[in-house]
Amino acid sequence: MLLLGIETSCDDTATAVVRDGRDVLASVSTAQDAFHAKYGGIVPEIASRRHTALLSAAIEDAAARAQTPLSAIDAIAVTRGPGLIGSLVVGVASAKALAFALKKPLYGVNHLHGHIFAAFLERPERPRYPMLALLVSGGHSQLVRVLSPVSMEILGRTRDDAAGEAYDKTARLLGLPYPGGPEIDTLAQRGDPNAHKFPRHRPDPGSLDLSFSGLKTSVRYFLEAEAGKKAKREDVAASFQAAVVDVLMARVESAFAQREYACAVLSGGVAANSALQHAFRSWASREHVDAFIPPPKYCTDNAAMIAAAAYYQGDVVRADPLTLDADPNLAFEIPTAA
Ligand code: KG4
Ligand code: ZN
Repeated sequence: MLLLGIETSCDDTATAVVRDGRDVLASVSTAQDAFHAKYGGIVPEIASRRHTALLSAAIEDAAARAQTPLSAIDAIAVTRGPGLIGSLVVGVASAKALAFALKKPLYGVNHLHGHIFAAFLERPERPRYPMLALLVSGGHSQLVRVLSPVSMEILGRTRDDAAGEAYDKTARLLGLPYPGGPEIDTLAQRGDPNAHKFPRHRPDPGSLDLSFSGLKTSVRYFLEAEAGKKAKREDVAASFQAAVVDVLMARVESAFAQREYACAVLSGGVAANSALQHAFRSWASREHVDAFIPPPKYCTDNAAMIAAAAYYQGDVVRADPLTLDADPNLAFEIPTAA
């Protein structure tokens, strides 16, 4: 089954052609970083206008690179939420028009489900359930129990900032450009993670929730104080990163201790982080659980993951090309048919 994926939930204009949820024949992504960098974050209006300018060419580009005419595609998968409404609308409207014109089935995919199935792109293994997934991106941070492609339960989520947001805001405090995650990752590799002791959020007993705003604030106070002004930025970056990784891994360990899992997935933009990947793999090998982490290009937003999710979720996410609507607050759990 050959799927065309379209992803425009945030600031990446992404398209892909994927066979059977696994083989990526083409994956095209035009990052808009250059347009947003000077504002220190994403400007929604600019993002949707860039999608409008870029998407048609990106669809043609994916088809050309996959050496597949659009008429040979079996179906179209598009992100319908959550995300920035203006950005989502561009992808959804294009996908609907294309599905209507080509008379192909259309699938409306949850962006976060895409991140989970990204872990199985270009891998021989298929997802096994129940799966423990740590989903850490710029907009979301949550721990999920995945029972099937269409049945998922959130075990814990952030109470304030997402992990990627904490990276981006802390990077800004350190004078680093947006997006800050990769910048801190690189800087931290030259720093001492034990140089400064930043606070680790502890959830209430029994809870698997996360929180990063206290950490970010403590880095801010530290940098404003005399000691912080003299501190090496590399050490601050490494110490901040160590706190993020500790908090995330503590929740993974607690969740894993509570229930049985067949495999574990780490995904979302922050999953590209080298320290987090290292900690996740070490934990998995200690626990003898198979760990799946997408390669960096599929950790961050891409359209191959949207095609993969549609492949696994099938009819449950099948949509009507006349009526499909974007939903900026799309619920994570798929409602079960009554
Ligand atoms: O999944 P994603 O591409 O977009 C959303 O759905 O949010 O995630 C983007 C986030 C940004 O906050 C970015 O700073 C972060 O992922 N990120 C990283 C790394 N690469 C991207 N954070 C830490 N370390 C990285 N290497
Ligand atoms: Zn994402």
